[in-house]
Amino acid sequence: MEKVISWLDARFPLTASFKAHLSEYYAPKNFNFWYYFGSLAMLVLAIQIITGIFLVMHYKPDGELAFASVEYIMRDVPFGWLIRYAHSTGASAFFIVVYLHMFRGLLYGSFRQPRELIWIFGMLIYLMLMAEAFMGYLLPWGQMSYWGAQVIINLFAAVPYIGNDLSTLIRGDFVVGDATLNRFFALHIVALPLVLIGLIAAHVIALHEVGSNNPDGVEIKKNKDPVTHHPLDGIPFHPYYTVKDILGVVVFLIVFSAILFFAPDMGGYFLEANNFIPADPLKTPAHIAPVWYFTPYYAILRAIPPMFGSQFPGVIAMGIAVVIFFALPWLDKSPVKSIRYRGPKFKIALALFVISFIWLGVLGVLPSTPLGTWIARGLTVVYFAFFLLMPWYTKNDTYKTEPERVTDK
Ligand code: HEM
Repeated sequence: MEKVISWLDARFPLTASFKAHLSEYYAPKNFNFWYYFGSLAMLVLAIQIITGIFLVMHYKPDGELAFASVEYIMRDVPFGWLIRYAHSTGASAFFIVVYLHMFRGLLYGSFRQPRELIWIFGMLIYLMLMAEAFMGYLLPWGQMSYWGAQVIINLFAAVPYIGNDLSTLIRGDFVVGDATLNRFFALHIVALPLVLIGLIAAHVIALHEVGSNNPDGVEIKKNKDPVTHHPLDGIPFHPYYTVKDILGVVVFLIVFSAILFFAPDMGGYFLEANNFIPADPLKTPAHIAPVWYFTPYYAILRAIPPMFGSQFPGVIAMGIAVVIFFALPWLDKSPVKSIRYRGPKFKIALALFVISFIWLGVLGVLPSTPLGTWIARGLTVVYFAFFLLMPWYTKNDTYKTEPERVTDK
């Protein structure tokens, strides 16, 4: 074995990479529950790619055949139901994991200097993930696939001057049709996964350049052992965190399997009932709502009234609601990173933001009502206030002094 490894090492940096990124990569010793989700996001990515490959072996990207090919996978392909449900459950799991991963960033100020680029790569991943999920949802060619795509692509038509051309370009036709299905298929199975993998590599490379943050928000590189030069509050990623992450993987897989085997459509939240009906361009479903992970933004879209008959203001508000996360590293003016040492203003602002995001998500699933629209308007104000007032409330908050070293023994 040693001979094989030294043969490889002479030709490829195998041992050197293992040391640099695992056995001699020092991570803070106080990682907690919130630090499971980065590795879990990688696991879900692997699940999506592997199940996706097997789905493509049987799926037909054709308006006439797509729906039936998915039914064929579900009924006739050996374990096809398992592969398909793993992929559809995986899509929702991806967003659950990524939302929790992003929330950890908010809790501990992981987006802040010197990790701005990790955050920016993360946000680009998030945008790509949304595009990936949206395009994937068209592929089964059910009623929700069809009408969901119709509604969302029509939003692009609200862009002044270029809107109509833009939406025709996205569709490849004047209505959602075979051309749309083909281009979404190409993007969903080749282009976007490649971009996603590249961005995730950049995300982790940037992380390993600066090192991880931790629940105390203390930079462990500031205190190094004078002899070994290793951070005093760091432990080698392997074996300590590989073992910790395996625990996360096991628990995740138990929950994932429970959903997959017992509630794969999750009462309509992971797979909508209307999507088990073939796409019918002549019959609009009574209630069209996107899948749960898009609904906070969808509620913001519906909350903003049209102006001069154009939906553009809502579309802009929805777009800004997503991209405003990019600005976080520059909006936060607090002298401390972690919530443990921040004052009440930030804690209240974060709590209100989480409530507004979840509540908007709930409203976005429901058919719109006058009362719901007014509540959504209020929540939209709270949502944006979290970002726009951040420079003020983080500067004028009280805070505890950050310790020199991480506090967990
Ligand atoms: C496919 C999606 C993603 C994957 C596979 C991924 C992977 C990872 C991994 C493995 C880590 C190190 C382990 C950990 O800290 O949990 C990490 C850290 C981080 N990620 Fe992601 N990530 C993804 C999406 C995102 C998104 C959407 C954001 C934010 C917009 C983000 C922001 C961060 C930040 C700020 C850190 C550093 C956290 C710290 O050191 O406290 N990531 N990511």
